[in-house]
Amino acid sequence: MTDAQSQGVAGDEELVSYLDRTRERRLESFKALLRIPSISGIPAHAADCRAAAEFVAADMRAIGLEHVEISETGGHPVVYGDWLAAAGRPTILVYAHYDVQPVDPLDLWESPPFEPVVRDGRILARGASDDKGQLHMHLRAIEALLATHGKLPVNLKVIFEGEEESSSVHLDAWLEANREKLKSDFAVISDTSFFEGNLPSITVSLRGLVYIQLDVFGSRVDLHSGAYGGAVENPVNVLCQIVAALKRPDGRVSVPGFYDDVAEPSHLDQQALARLPFDEDAYRDSIGVPALIGEPGYTVLERLGMRPTLDVNGIWGGFEGEGPKTIIPAHAHAKISCRLVANQDPEQVFQLVAGYIAKLAPRTVRYTIQRLGDGMPSLTPIDHPATLAAARALEATFGAAPLYVREGGSIPVCASFEGILGLKTVLLGFAPPDGQFHAPNEWMSMTNYETGIRTIARYWAEVAGIER
Ligand code: BES
Ligand code: MN
Ligand code: MN
Repeated sequence: MTDAQSQGVAGDEELVSYLDRTRERRLESFKALLRIPSISGIPAHAADCRAAAEFVAADMRAIGLEHVEISETGGHPVVYGDWLAAAGRPTILVYAHYDVQPVDPLDLWESPPFEPVVRDGRILARGASDDKGQLHMHLRAIEALLATHGKLPVNLKVIFEGEEESSSVHLDAWLEANREKLKSDFAVISDTSFFEGNLPSITVSLRGLVYIQLDVFGSRVDLHSGAYGGAVENPVNVLCQIVAALKRPDGRVSVPGFYDDVAEPSHLDQQALARLPFDEDAYRDSIGVPALIGEPGYTVLERLGMRPTLDVNGIWGGFEGEGPKTIIPAHAHAKISCRLVANQDPEQVFQLVAGYIAKLAPRTVRYTIQRLGDGMPSLTPIDHPATLAAARALEATFGAAPLYVREGGSIPVCASFEGILGLKTVLLGFAPPDGQFHAPNEWMSMTNYETGIRTIARYWAEVAGIER
């Protein structure tokens, strides 16, 4: 064996040697995928999303996956492929997404977002860790197993989505329509990160989301603030009053009923979080804020993983140019999102927030509320045989038992797998904890990428032994 990264698959010399021999080619293919600017949220990039789907489908066919198809959803397509010749063995639904987030602010990137570079053990590009890197790792593990053994130890049904970063609007209907075809024993989603350094992690919960846009309208056009000021309402002032009333300074949300369905952390949950290696001061310094906020009575990790939030993502209105301009703006706008936890329901939280805004809004303005997307929170079982197998595979390849973490981010498809397909999910993710998801200079650790491919290969061998 030539490589510490291969320790967990050391018994499989052919696989080890194949992965060593194909390293360069693998990197070139990874870079080619990263070069496609498949930003799902920007309509002008629709053709790039399709190009990414086609790239991935061609890759899947080339490595020996079967029934590969680009499946229409009404939005960006889902790429499906399977390998079902492991009779009597478990069938796993594998999920990752090929779409990425927008890249602005562009001037903060050290190198262009769609021109991947490898430097200091990192590959830098939009999508490197969220989520093209993890998608690519799954394909490379399948490639290596099929190339060296001519078969997989389990049955796989692979779906790669193209709308995850824009709220997966068409995915639930697609899952419903393909329920029979997707029948499996459990699901694996690779779209999460490690918690600390290169210590492997298994994510055991995700927050949900409801996203709201609030538009406040006053006069027909901007008015002279001297000629009309004092008699006519200012929509920017009103919007600020509403936003300020939604939340207390300590971080607790003021919307009546907001916390009604929130499951309190159990004693075991609290202990599990308290055991994680977490240094509050280092966390604060890494972000660059003078102090942290948070709901009284909860630790930082509880606030991040087990408590809901309400945040303004953007707010605009009125004159923003240079110098003074004396107006009463005609309208003002805010984008507001709530992260949700078990057992909150996005629809219900939307109604609560909308109802409270209706109470707060004065008669002096008109306003509209739009719902821009939502997703259910999810919990995954820590003691499921598929989770235990993932822990063994991670420990064998990364040399440390995984940490069990509660993720503050959202992957709504996880709840859909359970709700629509009746599947439990293992959240087996490999991104670095500080991988700059959605931010400039997103990166993937080359060690996590290489070792993770071996983890996945090892995982399928571990899963093969699970009772069905
Ligand atoms: N991969 C992320 C979710 C995630 C974030 C996992 C941070 C681990 C750490 C996913 O692609 C994502 O960004 N989800 C969106 C969901 C939204 C668009 C519905 C999110 O959390 O904002
Ligand atoms: Mn993702
Ligand atoms: Mn993302």
